[in-house]
Amino acid sequence: MAQLAEGPAVAAPRVGKLGDPCIMVIFGAAGDLTARLLIPALYNLNRADLLSKEFAVLGVARAKLSDEDFRKQLYEDVKKYCGDCIDDKEAWDNFARRFYYHAGDFNNDQLFNQIKDRLEKIDRDHSTHQNVFFYMATAPSYFGPIVEKLAAAGMMEQSNDHWRRVVIEKPFGHDLESAKILNQQLLKLADETQIYRIDHYLGKETVQNIMAFRFANGIFEPIWNRRYIDHVQISVAETVGVEGRGSYFDHAGSLRDMVPNHLMQLISLTTMEPPISFDANAVRDEQAKILHAIQPMSDEEVLTRAVRGQYGEGTMDGERALAYRSEPDVAPDSRTETFVAMKLLIDNWRWADVPFYLRTGKRMPARNTHIVIQFRRAPFVLFRDTSVEHLMPNQLVLHIQPEEGISLQFAAKVPGPVMRLGTVDMNFEYQQYFGKQPSTGYERLLHDCMIGDQTLFQRADMVEAGWSVVNPILDLWKALPPRNFPNYPSGTWGPKEADELLERDGRRWRNFEQ
Ligand code: BG6
Repeated sequence: MAQLAEGPAVAAPRVGKLGDPCIMVIFGAAGDLTARLLIPALYNLNRADLLSKEFAVLGVARAKLSDEDFRKQLYEDVKKYCGDCIDDKEAWDNFARRFYYHAGDFNNDQLFNQIKDRLEKIDRDHSTHQNVFFYMATAPSYFGPIVEKLAAAGMMEQSNDHWRRVVIEKPFGHDLESAKILNQQLLKLADETQIYRIDHYLGKETVQNIMAFRFANGIFEPIWNRRYIDHVQISVAETVGVEGRGSYFDHAGSLRDMVPNHLMQLISLTTMEPPISFDANAVRDEQAKILHAIQPMSDEEVLTRAVRGQYGEGTMDGERALAYRSEPDVAPDSRTETFVAMKLLIDNWRWADVPFYLRTGKRMPARNTHIVIQFRRAPFVLFRDTSVEHLMPNQLVLHIQPEEGISLQFAAKVPGPVMRLGTVDMNFEYQQYFGKQPSTGYERLLHDCMIGDQTLFQRADMVEAGWSVVNPILDLWKALPPRNFPNYPSGTWGPKEADELLERDGRRWRNFEQ
């Protein structure tokens, strides 16, 4: 068990501030996200006693359902997606009594007057202090129009005694220009402090822990720079293909889907300067600064430093896997990438000349997200007169998922009369120290919306800075369509160009097979 900084060795539920009384309005409540993640997360918050008793949900979607139908439907769906989420039917029934539903078309202005009436009634019944957050679990094309209609109906207005917030899911725009337009549109209707742009990667404990690891320990920060670090690898490998999301993914591709958001979070948390406080804007200022310091690529650099791939047929877990082009809702001659790798450089004093290699892909041999920090080699081989010819560099690995932990690789003497070196690992595993907590990854984010903490949400400038990094790549790839797709079989680590990207610099990807 872990010895917590203050207090006894425990694996206790998170101690935290009780969420404010409020109503959560979910637009697109009939979709997957609601039953798969949002409702289970609320249920976990309730169980951890972090949800106000004065809390209610209003689901809005097109399907014609009564409140009771909605509750039943949610129960079935939550059970389907998350078998062991509901541990107690009676607790669920009590909880579900706070769920309401309203059917309507998001294009219809009338719907918004109806929602306003429903909110007044629910507020009276549940004493929610008129606090409301609107969660956009809809297609992205509705984000702007819905907030516009909410504002027109007076529902975004807040005062000293009540708040109004809006949570925007990804994708936030499809390139830099569209992200800017969406920001401008939203910022005309609401203040930045009312806008919560979500990136679910920040809901992961292991991602939040990057800051704790760096700034709650005295020993790592002094070596966290170009003098000691040779390079950094960030890999987000997935075994899944497009999982029935072909119509979305074929227009997006891996670069848009994963890089400006999830990978930029990982890189900014890993490289940012220590913030002056844990205040939301202090943290986000530092993240924004580092994103702005990433060198934008010229066309020439896109050709040499960015790699794209698309999976063909192959074998996954001993089974035949389809090529991307044979997936439902994907064009048979699709040129959409399902794999991206790139080398980025950061222009600041801490990181100048340290390469950051990023990659993400679908249908890879293992699901594994990790950050490898490779330190410089020891300056010379002291053991020259022995069988030791070269020294391995130390690697610190932040295991984000599914393995959750941190490991440090270093050299040790292999026992015996001869001087030989072996590489060994020092390992920390979350589960072993803290036990397993029921979590969907959305608990913290929803709770933060309820208490008004924006630290883990993207500010307008951060979203735009993330897009600025990928925009030159998007533009060049659009102008020069790929000619060799598919270029990696399902179940492999991507196209050979991704290996060559590192080999040219005398380096190799570290692959974790499970
Ligand atoms: C989503 C992407 O944002 O993140 C998906 O749209 C991807 O394509 C998913 O599979 C990965 O999230 P996680 O939490 O499973 O790593």
